[in-house]
Amino acid sequence: FADGKAIGPLNGSDSEIIAEAAAMLRSGETVAFPTETVYGLGADARNTAAVEAVFAAKGRPSDNPLIVHIARRSDLEALVTEVHPVASALIGAFWPGPLTLVLPVRPGVLSPLVTAGLDTVGVRMPDHPVALALLRAADCPVAAPSANRSGRPSPTLAAHVLEDLAGYIGGVLDGGAAGVGLESTVVQVQPDGTVAVLRPGGITAEQLAAVTGTAAAGAEPAAPSAAPSGGGSVPVPPAAVPGGMGGAGAAAQAAAGSSPAPRAPGMKYTHYAPRGALGIVRGSSAQRVAETAAKLLQAAQRDGAVTGLLLFEEHRALYPADPAACVVSLGSLASPEEAARFLYAALRRCDEAGATYILAEACPVTGLGAAIMNRLMKAAGETVIDAG
Ligand code: TXA
Ligand code: MG
Repeated sequence: FADGKAIGPLNGSDSEIIAEAAAMLRSGETVAFPTETVYGLGADARNTAAVEAVFAAKGRPSDNPLIVHIARRSDLEALVTEVHPVASALIGAFWPGPLTLVLPVRPGVLSPLVTAGLDTVGVRMPDHPVALALLRAADCPVAAPSANRSGRPSPTLAAHVLEDLAGYIGGVLDGGAAGVGLESTVVQVQPDGTVAVLRPGGITAEQLAAVTGTAAAGAEPAAPSAAPSGGGSVPVPPAAVPGGMGGAGAAAQAAAGSSPAPRAPGMKYTHYAPRGALGIVRGSSAQRVAETAAKLLQAAQRDGAVTGLLLFEEHRALYPADPAACVVSLGSLASPEEAARFLYAALRRCDEAGATYILAEACPVTGLGAAIMNRLMKAAGETVIDAG
């Protein structure tokens, strides 16, 4: 384990290995570990050299702050100066779980690298037995971004971590497949008690609203109206761009960047991307989407591209046989949990197939669909093909 390899599968009671990993964290090394969302690359958040090693292993821009992970609600007081009653209610409802709260940081406790110089810190308590056991054993705040090279799809398996980071980290605790598959929802409670969603994620806007009694204010522009389709609606994703996989995406990204809404600094970077060019196909019906995607894939294949397609199971029959070299199902439109769980692995599978041209079907932006489309849009550099 200590030579940078993965060890596992583990559960929360593998105390010897977890104690070893905790000792590595305390001595300033980096350790990747499973959480319920994605694998994180952990470091003692008080230790600047350790946090530097995380940024270096990931190739992460230093202006992008890290989330701090804790094992107990009572660990929070040492890290922040104030917890708004609404933030407290959210913590009560969703910790441990995929919700990160951005709170005013207590000066002098954490390495300034963790917060990238901001006066706030993002904190969460992960809902995973191995993560919680590790945090308890380390007995220190653990800064942990997703354990991928910056810009790559986040890791939902220990093998993904090693694909990206072998040789650059202390080791990986293997806890099997991450259950949620997408990162935590990052929120900030405003002084007036309204909740700003800086990054959609595992806790949906609907779940937040059920606790706060109000609709959460999104950081992303609201999606325009939905249009009917086979397995449900395929609404226009945020910042949708009609046309091909050309330069229009950059313009949309620039426009999105000028939005006045609060954002997590990390959301401005192209993220989660496979190696091939990715486009999202949306349209007024599943039939239109499939026809357009099939045509584009065929044309790309003729031009020598290795093609990939991410589709929903209900739509498979709308495509010709073998519509792409690598076809990955995101499961049923009726269970976005499945799509969330498999999205990053699906993007990595396209990489393994050597895909150079990849299309993904859009999904409705309700519930977990908001986070799925958010990640797909980032992965695609906002490239959306409108099938009409
Ligand atoms: O599910 C997760 O949150 C995973 C697992 C490992 O816990 N972690 C994760 O960390 O996704 P990372 O570093 O990949 O993403 C952190 C996000 C970034 O978008 C960052 O900009 C934002 O949280 N963030 C962190 N601290 C912040 C702060 N003080 N203010 C605003 N945004 C913050
Ligand atoms: Mg990340």
